Parts: sequence; structure tokens; C-alpha cells
Amino acid sequence: MLAALQSFKQCPQTRALSYLAMTNPSSPASDPALARKQRAAQAALAHIRAGTIIGVGTGSTVNVLIDLLGQQQSRLRLQGAVSSSEASSARLRSNGIAVLDLNQLDELPLYIDGADEATRARELIKGGGGALTREKIVAAVSERFVCIVDDSKLVETLGRFPLPVEVIPMARAYVARRLERLGGRPVWRESVTTDNGNQILDVHGLSIEDPRALESTIDQIAGVVTVGLFARRPADLMIVGTAAGIVEI
Ligand code: 5RP
Repeated sequence: MLAALQSFKQCPQTRALSYLAMTNPSSPASDPALARKQRAAQAALAHIRAGTIIGVGTGSTVNVLIDLLGQQQSRLRLQGAVSSSEASSARLRSNGIAVLDLNQLDELPLYIDGADEATRARELIKGGGGALTREKIVAAVSERFVCIVDDSKLVETLGRFPLPVEVIPMARAYVARRLERLGGRPVWRESVTTDNGNQILDVHGLSIEDPRALESTIDQIAGVVTVGLFARRPADLMIVGTAAGIVEI
């Protein structure tokens, strides 16, 4: 198992995220990358108590999970799910799972979500799908955060994947100047308006040696809604899908 983790691969700078592409998690994918996501998503099911409510994130790995939840709902009897995006909400509903309002809940025992990059310390970059703000809220509320990734996401140092920062539209240029002063190269994700009506800057060229400190620094810039670093609230468990099976970190 450890051998599988010794070959940590760096993420490509950008990844096409086809969140709405249908997958069939009950049959192993012929695409090796999808098969690794399926293994991670399948293993996450063991952490879900029957009859509970769960938080569900966003992305192609989570899409596999949502489809599995739909297939297993007669056994799981989920009361419903809190979703981190409109895309995941639509997919949950189409799988027969009720989408609940976080404001109506006193607690949330479990949150399952993917990541764009992850370290052995379970610190993450998220937001490749633009859902980082709701993801950070759901992660904050949840007692336990289980992150499901394939082994291409594992890195020694965060930052090769451009760091997403959600900004209030009128502050975009100001925030970009501040991010440049931190050594990054912010690029406006022009095609995207977030579910919250905001914009996203993807910050290239960072090597993030102290993710907790950088998270705090960027959070304090006026106009920043959320930075896609999940270090002050890392995952509690990471399930890594590999060619050979899964590894839990
Ligand atoms: C969305 C996210 C996703 O968790 C992240 O982009 C991973 O997606 P995928 O499972 O498709 O690689 O942060 O905002």
C-alpha cells in the first residue's frame, strides 16, 4: 500500500471537469482514472450510517458517489443530503435523494467531497469546480470530513493546481493585485459565475509551504469570499483510489 503512495504525482495545471457526465459506478470503468475515482467513492459508503443525513460536495468523483447513493438508497435510507452546489443538488434529486437546507439542521455528522490537490497531512486545494465557498461551509459544520480522491491528486506541496479564490465582483482587480504581491499570478476564470453570484481568480505559480498561514492571509483581503485552501479545517480521512485498490490516510 505504501508503495502506491510513494509515486505521488503532481496535478496537471488544469483539468477539464465534466461534472454532468454520466457514469455507471456499478460496473468498473474502462477508463483507469475513472476506475480509481470509483474505488474511492465506493469505499466512502462504509462511512455512512443508515438513516443519517450527509453533506455532499461537488465534482466528478462526487458524481460517482451520488450515483452510488441513489443505487443504495433502499439500504442506506438517507433522510437527505446537504449539497455544496446546484449541480450536485440536481444530481442528488435525480437519484431520489432529498436536498436539505443546512439552516434547518443542528448538526451534520459527515461530509464527503473530492479535492483538486491533497497532501499527506490531508490539507487540500479545492474549488476547481467553483463550489469552494459552499464546500467550506459544509466542511466547517460537519463533524467528520471524508475526502475522496484518486492518486493523481496527491502532492508533496500544494500549489501546482492553480489556487481558486472566490471574490466579490467589484473587488476582483484589487484582490488580484494583492495576490500578485503574495507571489502568485491570478487569472480571472471569466466563463464562471459562482452559485453565489461571485467571480473566481485562479492563482498560478504558488508553492504553498505553509497552507494554514496562506489561508488566513488570503481570507483577510477585503473582497475575498473564500480561498480554496482547506488547511485550517483539513479532511479527517482521505480515501485514495489507486490502480491496485484504496489507501486510507
Ligand atoms: C469543486 C471541488 C472538487 O472537489 C474538486 O474540483 C475535485 O473534482 P473532481 O472530483 O472532478 O476531480 O473542489 O469545487
